[in-house]
Amino acid sequence: MQTMKGRTAVVTGAASGIGKALALGFAAEGANVVLADVEPEPLAAAEAEVGALGVDALGVVTDVTDADSVHALADRTLERFGQVNMLCNNAGVGGGGLIKNLQLVDWKWVIDVSLWGVIHGVDAFLPHLIAADEAHVMSTASVAGLMANPGLGPYNAAKYGVVAIMETLYLEMERDPVADVGVSVLCPGIVRTNIATAQRNRPDHLRRQRSDDGATMTPEARAEARRRNDRIAAALAEEGMDPADVAAKVIQAMYDRRFWVLSHPELLADVNHRNHRLAQLENPTLDSAFGTD
Ligand SMILES: NC(=O)c1ccc[n+]([C@@H]2O[C@H](COP(=O)([O-])OP(=O)(O)OC[C@H]3O[C@@H](n4cnc5c(N)ncnc54)[C@H](O)[C@@H]3O)[C@@H](O)[C@H]2O)c1
Repeated sequence: MQTMKGRTAVVTGAASGIGKALALGFAAEGANVVLADVEPEPLAAAEAEVGALGVDALGVVTDVTDADSVHALADRTLERFGQVNMLCNNAGVGGGGLIKNLQLVDWKWVIDVSLWGVIHGVDAFLPHLIAADEAHVMSTASVAGLMANPGLGPYNAAKYGVVAIMETLYLEMERDPVADVGVSVLCPGIVRTNIATAQRNRPDHLRRQRSDDGATMTPEARAEARRRNDRIAAALAEEGMDPADVAAKVIQAMYDRRFWVLSHPELLADVNHRNHRLAQLENPTLDSAFGTD
């Protein structure tokens, strides 16, 4: 992007964490911001915070798992601002457990939000980004989209998918004779956000039924799930990067038209370990700070 001043940014998952930091970051660059989130009250608070920076802010309650809801978000954006220049498909939820203990609702919820949310964003907004004077789309994946760690099956699957979609889109936009759309993928390490309580937004029909739990989760599996959650929450609070620093890296990458955005580039050592094993056709081994087995 040459400039963000007076342009329009759309951020999903904007009521909290990395999304809220992105919304504030775009506002600091002088962009008008559309904040989309499924949680109405924190969304209204974030909208007010962004508006206080002197730009036009619009909060739109949106469920990224629902294509119609994301298309309605695009319509509201176009009605209010006439165009969209920066899109961040950022909403995502974490949840895990060893695959042997998972139920289909666990896969469905994480993949609906973290993978289908990105697909819906691209589907609803790409034509408008292509039509804009200048545009950039970023989706939030994770280091879990570059290497697979135990205990995070659905999350790894969703985030590998997000990286694949954005890599494909980058190559397609680079070759496109008409479009001027930059493409980035954000692969954060640990960031200080509310992701450890992501279950707060899990819809009732995708929650585990108690009777199912009893049938499939042994006390040992239950204790393991609790330990994993506690470890993640503690790591986020103690070691997590400030989301504002992550947002600054994303915004700089948009100016520089860079594809890869890593909050913790030192984690590439783990990714390289995985890729080296692949290059040698050797079986995977775990050599990572994220190991949860
Ligand atoms: N925090 C980390 O350490 C970390 C690491 C790697 C990747 N990420 C990714 O960063 C992104 C942002 O997460 P965060 O860490 O800021 O967490 P967060 O929980 O603080 O924020 C996520 C936001 O997404 C919203 N959301 C959840 N379901 C939604 C839905 N169906 N539709 C619309 N909005 C929805 C939540 O209400 C919340 O406001 C996610 O994609 C996450 O996977 C986070």
